[in-house]
Amino acid sequence: MSLENMKAMLSKASNAGYAVGAFNILDYNSTRAVVQAAEETSAPVIIQTSAKTVLFWGCSAIISWVKELAGPSKVPIALHLDHCKDLQLIADCIDAGWSSVMIDASSKPFEENLALSKQVVEMARPKDVTVEAELGAIVGVEDDIHVKQQDAHLADPEQAIEFCAQVGPDCFAPAIGTAHGVYKGVPKIAYDLLEEIAAATTPPIALHGGTGLADEVFKKCISLGCAKVNISTQLKYAFIDGFVAYHNAHDTEYDPLKVIDAQFNELKVGIVKNINLFGSAGMA
Ligand code: 13P
Repeated sequence: MSLENMKAMLSKASNAGYAVGAFNILDYNSTRAVVQAAEETSAPVIIQTSAKTVLFWGCSAIISWVKELAGPSKVPIALHLDHCKDLQLIADCIDAGWSSVMIDASSKPFEENLALSKQVVEMARPKDVTVEAELGAIVGVEDDIHVKQQDAHLADPEQAIEFCAQVGPDCFAPAIGTAHGVYKGVPKIAYDLLEEIAAATTPPIALHGGTGLADEVFKKCISLGCAKVNISTQLKYAFIDGFVAYHNAHDTEYDPLKVIDAQFNELKVGIVKNINLFGSAGMA
């Protein structure tokens, strides 16, 4: 199956009350784990790349892995650029074949965020590429995007309505109290705000900061309108822990393919668990 954008998969998820998992890949092995997890569970899936990962490998390497793995697959797969502030990188990903992109101009004043997000929609829409845009500031570290606690703020509901009406994103990421990275305490999720925004706007909502949220938190956010759930830090931990644990248990072996396989399994088990929890299993 060729790559899909996020439109049909998220509108189906919104209507049916489940969410599609968006998993930040790191390399070929983690991309393979995302695709195989989706195939085993018969789920639609979003392969997500941070801007840092794209700059590390280059667009053509990533698109070649994704096309090789998604091409023969029977499940709907989107390739989405996560939080990107750089319009040139967004254009490069669109040209290379990404089916979806995120403009993150949330650190800018409202009017500037609006203008930049609109500009990306104008770049992407003629090429049938979907756009996610953010409002408010999500605390934490997502690769090279750092938002300190004192700079984080929740999305304003009035601004959310105006933003969605003017920009018309295919997916909307309002800051609702979740955080990127590892949670230090119990997160305070603004469920009322999420409910208010979901009722007053039309695009499917993305839940950022998925790693470490409790099962009930995922379920509640999905029931209130989140149709896309982002998971990144969990894959970083599985990537390293899967590798190191195998080597520690077989420290004289030095058989790299076995280590890579252990890493793959550690990644896949976590992704399958997420897919089942988000309700997207069987929805391909
Ligand atoms: P985590 O790293 O907390 O899973 O957040 C992922 C995310 O929201 C990517 O945009």
